[in-house]
Amino acid sequence: MQYKILNDGNKMPMLGFGVFQIEPNLTQKCVEDAISVGYRSIDTAQAYFNEEQTGAALRTAIEGGVKREELFVTTKIWINNMDSETKALKSIETSLKKLGLDYLDMLLIHQPYNDIYGTWRVMKRLKDEGVLKSIGVSNFYADRVADLCENTGVVPAINQLECHPFYQREALKKVLDSYGVAFWSWASFAEGKNDIFKNQILQSIGDKYGKSVAQVVLRWLIQRDILVIPKSVNVERMRENFDVFDFTLSDDDMKLISTLDTDKTLFFDHTDSERAKWIINVWKDKFK
Ligand SMILES: NC(=O)c1ccc[n+]([C@@H]2O[C@H](COP(=O)([O-])OP(=O)(O)OC[C@H]3O[C@@H](n4cnc5c(N)ncnc54)[C@H](OP(=O)(O)O)[C@@H]3O)[C@@H](O)[C@H]2O)c1
Repeated sequence: MQYKILNDGNKMPMLGFGVFQIEPNLTQKCVEDAISVGYRSIDTAQAYFNEEQTGAALRTAIEGGVKREELFVTTKIWINNMDSETKALKSIETSLKKLGLDYLDMLLIHQPYNDIYGTWRVMKRLKDEGVLKSIGVSNFYADRVADLCENTGVVPAINQLECHPFYQREALKKVLDSYGVAFWSWASFAEGKNDIFKNQILQSIGDKYGKSVAQVVLRWLIQRDILVIPKSVNVERMRENFDVFDFTLSDDDMKLISTLDTDKTLFFDHTDSERAKWIINVWKDKFK
């Protein structure tokens, strides 16, 4: 495993396991499988509605001999839990309870909406108390990152963003680098969109190294110093996605992959008001 030393000094695995869109009744088994494959970083969120099941798997792992310190557990606070500092704090306590943990390795603000600043203050306080080892954000574009860093002086450890061969975000990465914020890719495989697993360029590169498209994509991100959390419910694919540390893509192959960039989201443009409205309201009722 390769690790990233974050700007707060904490050490985080470059490769982890994401549990978005894993049904709650499958989550415990999937996370247990992922941990048995070797994954130690697990990424969930309040809005994935599977924190309890993720927590049950973490407990099984710890009871089976995996040390808590080996695990790197992330969750994310959802928009509708960020109405006030009191509500944010309560929801973080609830997440800890659901996960069965007394500290989190990472807490992210999931979306750049609602009371970001009040929530950030709560998160900073909990970091100082040791309840949160690292704090970060997700889906923050360059202007939001600059605003948070300049106006609070508390620089996020990481920013989790859509990033895959069709949306490479080099300009945003430069801004994050300038602040010392690590870049974490979500939807590294674009959730299979654009027929990524059959992409000819990625396939031909994979053939050269005896690797699959999925492995090429993860390796390409890791070589860009971008952390990854591929999701799979299939244990064979979990193994495949984990096996990316025994080869190095050449500069020419890195450049060839950069030609796939369309510089367009395949999911959400957070600056689009209709999209923002949808995201803000989609799970509002579940967070009353
Ligand atoms: N912060 C955010 O706003 C945000 C948003 C989205 C996601 N995320 C995080 O990022 C993680 C990953 O993103 P994602 O789940 O959206 O998408 P993803 O990792 O790009 O794609 C997952 C899809 O790829 C398939 N897959 C996985 N490995 C494969 C392989 N080796 N070969 C072929 N197909 C493969 C999976 O199918 P099977 O499961 O059937 O194998 C699933 O359909 C999430 O789980 C979540 O933790 C964060």
